[in-house]
Amino acid sequence: MNPNRHLMTLDEFTIHQTRQFKHATGELSTLLRDIGLACKFINKQVNKAGLVDILGAHGAVNVQGEEQMKLDIFANEVLINVLRNSSDCAGIASEENDSYVAFEDEHSINSKYVVMFDPLDGSSNIDVNASIGTIFCIYKRVSPLGKPCNETDFLQKGKNIMAAGYVIYGSSTMMVYATRLGVNGFTLEPSVGEFCLSHKDMKCPEDGKIYSINQGNSSKYDAKLIQFLQYCMEDDKETSRPYSHRYIGSMVADLHRTLIKGGLFMYPADTKSVKGKLRLLYECNPMSYIIEMAGGIGTDGQNAILDIEPCELHQRVPIFIGSKKMVEKALDFLK
Ligand code: AHG
Ligand code: MN
Ligand code: MN
Repeated sequence: MNPNRHLMTLDEFTIHQTRQFKHATGELSTLLRDIGLACKFINKQVNKAGLVDILGAHGAVNVQGEEQMKLDIFANEVLINVLRNSSDCAGIASEENDSYVAFEDEHSINSKYVVMFDPLDGSSNIDVNASIGTIFCIYKRVSPLGKPCNETDFLQKGKNIMAAGYVIYGSSTMMVYATRLGVNGFTLEPSVGEFCLSHKDMKCPEDGKIYSINQGNSSKYDAKLIQFLQYCMEDDKETSRPYSHRYIGSMVADLHRTLIKGGLFMYPADTKSVKGKLRLLYECNPMSYIIEMAGGIGTDGQNAILDIEPCELHQRVPIFIGSKKMVEKALDFLK
């Protein structure tokens, strides 16, 4: 490696960003570093997932005599334990827990931030070795310092997010994270175990040629949505139609492609899932924040996702998200 070629690590980058603000305390950088650390542990376990058949199936005992843990439970516990030990986290809410967890030690009750996450997204893809991910977002708490955080800290609009990101465990492992200053991507350099800046100031292309939806559910979709899907499949040279259809079934992987190549990702409501499937707090809010900071749009078909007032921790919402022009076109049909 050329010693003069400086790779900027996630830590160096966030410290550099913090220095641009006079009153910044660096707590957000510490939290991002801690989330990055948890995701490195998860990454290691995800890479070994294929060995489960050799070492013993889930629920069985492995060669070391340890109980095998389901990967999403493992990821959840790693994140909670790392954040519990973090110096700047008052509590967490996770897709895998029925309720939020308030950290009650002296230090945590005086911490300013709470973190919400989907510890492992796309977990049905583990068995087929396709990309999966971790999604997170960070809020400043609204409850008074000096006491454990409470539910009001977690039921905040997406607009209040301070930072959001995801880690994709793919052909390489990458963290993408967004603040009001922009969206940046860091690739894990396995030899040194650090996330290094690889995708600076990411922008979601204004228009795209790919739509992404579980089209197998079409018979349960609303007529207006069916019309829009017809539009995507029609021939029209001028607007590059028909669009290509791509659907991995991992929101992180589908949206990572959408962020880089442009496109439209949809998980609508249907007659079976009348509120949609994806969770507002752990999936739709953080992803909408990232895409909007990169110039795209995230909506439930009526309102911006980030404007929705949450009323419960595990609330679901329909979502249409991605390149600005493609989302606007979908809204022309849906409204
Ligand atoms: P999770 O693995 O966290 O439960 O999330 C799965 C989600 C999401 O990643 C993906 O976009 C969606 O489920 C796919 O759902 P369908 O299989 O219904 O298309
Ligand atoms: Mn998920
Ligand atoms: Mn999950």
